Amino acid sequence: MFEQLTLKPADSILKLIAEHRDDPRAEKVDLGVGVYRDSLGSTPIMRSVKKAEHWLVGSQASKAYLGSRGDAVFCEAIQQMMFGHESVSDGRISTIQSPGGSGALRIAAQVILRANPKATMWVSDPTWDNHVPLLGEAGVNLRSHTYYDRQKNTIRFDGMLEALKESVPGDLILLHGCCHNPTGMDLSIEQWNRIAEFVEERKLIPFIDLAYQGFAEGLEEDRYGVKVMYERVPELVVTQSCSKNFGLYRDRVGALSMVAADGPLAEIMDSQVLSAVRTMYSVPPDHGAAVVSKIINDAELKSEWLAELSAIRTRLKQMRKLLVEELYRTAPTKDFSHIERTTGMFCYLGVSAEQVVLLKQDHGVYLLDSGRINVCGITESNVQYLAESIASVI
Ligand code: LMR
Repeated sequence: MFEQLTLKPADSILKLIAEHRDDPRAEKVDLGVGVYRDSLGSTPIMRSVKKAEHWLVGSQASKAYLGSRGDAVFCEAIQQMMFGHESVSDGRISTIQSPGGSGALRIAAQVILRANPKATMWVSDPTWDNHVPLLGEAGVNLRSHTYYDRQKNTIRFDGMLEALKESVPGDLILLHGCCHNPTGMDLSIEQWNRIAEFVEERKLIPFIDLAYQGFAEGLEEDRYGVKVMYERVPELVVTQSCSKNFGLYRDRVGALSMVAADGPLAEIMDSQVLSAVRTMYSVPPDHGAAVVSKIINDAELKSEWLAELSAIRTRLKQMRKLLVEELYRTAPTKDFSHIERTTGMFCYLGVSAEQVVLLKQDHGVYLLDSGRINVCGITESNVQYLAESIASVI
């Protein structure tokens, strides 16, 4: 049977972990996979997370199953972080704990296919490298809409609305809640309002993937898209990840919230979501979600975590500024100022695929073939080398 299979190419993002690791050059720079790194280039466990883990190990009395939804306390806390306290009492939202944001995407796809297998999901061009494989493999019909102008490094908002005119009622539109991956170019408040009006008029279903809440402007600011859609439309899907904002990458913590028009419909949808989980992985992993739940519900740990998150945002902004300044010095003829207008972990550097190859081969600088960089890989110590390397290939 297995001889029927052919070799699959390595994942475009995950392969960079090994490529960078195996490069013996001391000066190598990792701007690949989306994990946070501090000014020393490490990905430490957050202090608030470490404290919650100590508490958990000391207090956990059982490892018995919690059920397909996962930890109900976590679900309530994460739902409020996304929808706000005022929204959660109307019974329209069903939330489950999922194995990371990817697990949430996969369960959402499964339920969407049960509800309307003919629906098309519109994704931005470009989008996260794994969105199309993950949702496409699940069987969702996908089409892409214009999003980014690679020449001008701006959002092509009119082009986006124009492309979406081909959508039909019941289609879904996948929007990045904040920190658009890979471009780092987010919709403005006005653009979110316009998109909300558009989906309402055309009876589309917004699907918001929010993998970086707290990485752009703050927890509250970063949920603006969810808030405006929740107020305006009857149906909405939201996927969350705690990989980045709690730094729990390998522990796999996320959530899926599906919003229905009213309480009775939400109850039906909730039963569908739980049955999809049961048939795919039965129950989610517990440890990371218990840690998140402890942090959100403990005032002291929460304020420590919020301070850590704020320090991450500050560092990301500083590194963007530093890189633009260094590039202005090393490559004054090329405009890199768009980098400072982006948010979150990523942006396009503005280099070609050939230049990406040269950066890897000649300088040990690792980034995605698309030219996406993870801004966290920049430090005060490597920025000069990085800017000189970029200047030498453009
Ligand atoms: C990324 O885009 O680099 C991250 O979201 C990690 C991943 O799983 O792709």
